[in-house]
Amino acid sequence: MPMFEWTQEYSVNVRELDEQHKKLVDMINNLDESMKSENQGDAIKIVLDELLDYTAYHFETEEKLLMQYGYPRLESHTKEHDTLSWRVLDMRTRHESGEGVEAKEILDFLTAWLKNHILFSDRQYGIFLNSKGLR
Ligand SMILES: [Fe+2]
Repeated sequence: MPMFEWTQEYSVNVRELDEQHKKLVDMINNLDESMKSENQGDAIKIVLDELLDYTAYHFETEEKLLMQYGYPRLESHTKEHDTLSWRVLDMRTRHESGEGVEAKEILDFLTAWLKNHILFSDRQYGIFLNSKGLR
């Protein structure tokens, strides 16, 4: 069973952002699978880095779009992204310095955070963007 199953309830009803969310979900599931089947630290680190890079790129896309359309809750939304980014960066640094943070722990944390964030914060901007005619 995939770690994160994208279902319609995760839709923000804006095509570009749904596509990016689906890509994140795919990357999460692939990484989770490869962590179960192999234990190649370097390979996992590369894929984890790709996932974190894509997450940062995705946040940028959302923030640019929300700024462009004048989303009234942009500031708190950006703050949520920043908090997650700092926490993950901190976990990654501690992972790399051998402080007992497992790559799987970072993946689990990011996944739980994303599910919650999409359902409760991203879907709110979805309604706003839809009201501005964006789909
Ligand atoms: Fe977001």
